Amino acid sequence: MVYVAIMGHGVVGGGVAEVLRKNAASIAKKAGQEIVIKRILDLREFPDSPYADRFTKNPDDIIHDPEIAIVIETMGGLHPAYEFVKACLENGKSVVTSNKELVAAKGDELLAFAKQHNLNFLFEASVGGGIPILRPINQCLTANEVYEIAGILNGTTNFMLTKMIEEDMSFDEALSLAQRLGYAERDPSADIDGHDTCRKVCILAALGFGKHVYPAQVHTEGIRGVSLTDVKYAAAAGYAIKLIGRARARDDGRIFCMVAPMLVPKDNLLSDVRDVFNAIMVRGDAIGDVMFYGRGAGALPTASAVVADVIDEVKHIARRKMIFWESGSDDYVCPYTEDQTAAMVRLTADLPETAKAAVTAAFGEVRWIALIGQPENELCFLTEVQNEQTLAQTLQGLSGVQIQSCIRLFGE
Ligand code: HSE
Repeated sequence: MVYVAIMGHGVVGGGVAEVLRKNAASIAKKAGQEIVIKRILDLREFPDSPYADRFTKNPDDIIHDPEIAIVIETMGGLHPAYEFVKACLENGKSVVTSNKELVAAKGDELLAFAKQHNLNFLFEASVGGGIPILRPINQCLTANEVYEIAGILNGTTNFMLTKMIEEDMSFDEALSLAQRLGYAERDPSADIDGHDTCRKVCILAALGFGKHVYPAQVHTEGIRGVSLTDVKYAAAAGYAIKLIGRARARDDGRIFCMVAPMLVPKDNLLSDVRDVFNAIMVRGDAIGDVMFYGRGAGALPTASAVVADVIDEVKHIARRKMIFWESGSDDYVCPYTEDQTAAMVRLTADLPETAKAAVTAAFGEVRWIALIGQPENELCFLTEVQNEQTLAQTLQGLSGVQIQSCIRLFGE
């Protein structure tokens, strides 16, 4: 029998307790022994829980209990999760976490610390909810030189964009529905402003390319600036707007890494990813393109990945799983302004014909997008691929126009 403890009985922690209880017999068979929850840390009371007698408000009841071999951290947030996880490792406990903020900020350090103590630190659930993605990158695709990882990594924003596009739901209605369904972060700005996607792409890049990427190094834009009008112009041109996290290897050993809404061509599988689903594309030199798809948020899908890690750790008690990456460096992530992109630009102008001529003079031939019922003073076009900084400067240099939006294309 192995004793485990859960830190944080929220959406994910509650789901983990439920899965461990509901599937106890089959989990015991797969793990080789029974997995018993000894303690659950939470400041709230859960008198109706089947584990009501095991709740504690004191982390030391877990950290200093020598019988507990594995701690499941599902509190979220950097502090005090970081201190608790470190203390658990120091006290000889392997850790499983779903906490992407923790892994994106401190993954290199905690992996090194776990290695030093001959323990395991696993975090499959931190990216893509229930989708198996980290283990496949770390194990099944390990023969490849991975050169790009990109995908839809946030269920809440994908759910919101789908509801807005397909059901004409307002931004606020879609957000409160996502919150009611347990998809959104405690602070929804983490979803909407792209920080959640940023943390996940940092973890994917670290694992795929072998070196830590810190969230502050990643240019991050969310979906607040995406309007229904943009969505309609994009659709008219054959694209769907998705919030994309993307990391690409460069020939000089550095990488580009960015989070932004992007126009995905309708013939790319990512454009069909709806609702809370996530999809992650991995490109490797031997395998070509591989796509991972599934539920990226929610209690049980995420718990499914957490419990799988727990089972793996039970099977590897006193043995280490090989998962590791180096610490990052200041110049590892190349400034996004040096990257290349095409973009869809929407602008308004009092003199649209003059503005059209100015756009053509500045950008050369562009592809104009027309929409039925389009206001007379509104223009929308697609640029050619060009340097990010040049694009921004050219837009700034256009006179007599108001730029309403500029959304990048997700190119090959
Ligand atoms: N808020 C996150 C999402 C939860 O919507 O994807 C899973 O990380």
